[in-house]
Amino acid sequence: MAKKILVTGSNGLIGSEVCVYFGQRGLAVHGIDNNQRRVFFGPQGDTRWNQQRLRNALPGFIHHELDIRNRTGVAAVVAEVAPDLIVHAAAQPSHDLAAQIPFDDFDTNAGGTLNLLEACRQHCRGAVFVLMSTNKVYGDGPNHLPLVELDQRWDYADHHRAHGIPETFPIDQCLHSLFGASKAAADLMAQEYGRYFGMATACLRGGCLTGPGHSGVELHGFLSYLVKCNLEGREYSVFGYRGKQVRDNIHAVDVAGFIHQFYLSPRCGEVYNLGGGKANSCSILEAFQQVESLTGRKQKLVCLDKNRIGDHICYYSDLRKMRQHYPDWTVTRSLPEILQEIVSAWRERLNAKAPGAPA
Ligand SMILES: NC(=O)c1ccc[n+]([C@@H]2O[C@H](COP(=O)([O-])OP(=O)(O)OC[C@H]3O[C@@H](n4cnc5c(N)ncnc54)[C@H](O)[C@@H]3O)[C@@H](O)[C@H]2O)c1
Repeated sequence: MAKKILVTGSNGLIGSEVCVYFGQRGLAVHGIDNNQRRVFFGPQGDTRWNQQRLRNALPGFIHHELDIRNRTGVAAVVAEVAPDLIVHAAAQPSHDLAAQIPFDDFDTNAGGTLNLLEACRQHCRGAVFVLMSTNKVYGDGPNHLPLVELDQRWDYADHHRAHGIPETFPIDQCLHSLFGASKAAADLMAQEYGRYFGMATACLRGGCLTGPGHSGVELHGFLSYLVKCNLEGREYSVFGYRGKQVRDNIHAVDVAGFIHQFYLSPRCGEVYNLGGGKANSCSILEAFQQVESLTGRKQKLVCLDKNRIGDHICYYSDLRKMRQHYPDWTVTRSLPEILQEIVSAWRERLNAKAPGAPA
């Protein structure tokens, strides 16, 4: 019988990519999503298009319309499916939005994760459980490292940070945003189910996870939203740090590739910083330039003095632990390749939506 994967947030960027990746490798794919991204971000965040894409791409795909805050509902689906692998990618993903909806944020991110972990323990204890965590669990700690301001970006001044932020970086006694705190709660809980109950859990602390499957909005999905603004001729607001803030970007397919490696050779209660690393990092200013060169359109932008509370000035992931544990894994998509894919995908979506939209 085919192995089974259960993916939460299956309409989203990571969830959908993981569904396709494992579906193409012969696993029976079940997804959980309720299009909550539309509730969080309005019509621009609607993910039904991606759900439809999954239906087309994966004929055997089974969608469960379910809110992960529904404890009994989650337990029932996990018991019914009895998956071999759970990838938990459903979340309230925005730093800024969390402050406006603290209960929804915590109940989704922390409570939803606990619902899934406990359902896994009760009904499929041997399954591999992967939580999509975030680099925001480190709060603004990385901002207190010595930094150097270069012409187009910030960087770490200390050569010990040349590879980026490692998993040993402290996560407490700093400013997180409510989102960072709810995700840290989920991250610790997933580690605990690994260490305390001996379950095969991993927390993947994402940098900027990206790709054409994102429903990018101003509050979440940096590169996707930036490309969309460029193609639509809309102004992009840069929040503080003179646009030199640095993010490391990784294509969702490389996230799925790492999950595959972990599934093949799982460990208990592990934590990995998963991003594009320094090679795939860029500042917002650098991202504008790269996108402009691909689209031929000048980016409209406004630079605001005020940064987002707790936002990282410079963050890129130290990928050495991932590479050491899983030497077969590597980042396969460079930043220019990722941007080209996002540009092509947005062109297609915008054209499909409105004939005469930017080509
Ligand atoms: N995209 C990034 O840059 C990034 C960076 C770091 C961490 N992460 C984490 O990776 C995960 C996936 O991120 P993404 O970019 O794919 O987000 P996304 O918003 O594209 O996808 C999340 C999906 O979860 C669904 N969802 C939200 N709340 C739900 C609920 N209560 N019940 C059922 N479904 C619900 C949404 O409808 C959406 O389709 C999240 O945990 C996020 O915090 C993402």
